[in-house]
Amino acid sequence: MKGRSSELLEGALFDLVAYTREHFAREEEEMLRIGYAQTQEHVAEHAKLLKTVNALKTEFESGEKIDPLTLFNLLSHWLRHHILQVDMKLALALKRT
Ligand SMILES: [Fe+2]
Repeated sequence: MKGRSSELLEGALFDLVAYTREHFAREEEEMLRIGYAQTQEHVAEHAKLLKTVNALKTEFESGEKIDPLTLFNLLSHWLRHHILQVDMKLALALKRT
């Protein structure tokens, strides 16, 4: 039987995977649409993040305990590096089109 914190983590991981896929797909469509010069690097970073998120979800589904620090580090890197730097460059490029 799952505990409350386990259910919350499962829901958060499920939402994170769904959000990640949708958000990345939308950005990648926009990059192709405008011929964004840094598409290759940006898409590679998406693939790396998605792989990490999927690995965490798989670990969780197989009954392994998720290290909260691993999840925190992933989200922290995502926010500080990817969203605030990589996505911002794309946002500026989209504004210029
Ligand atoms: Fe992105």
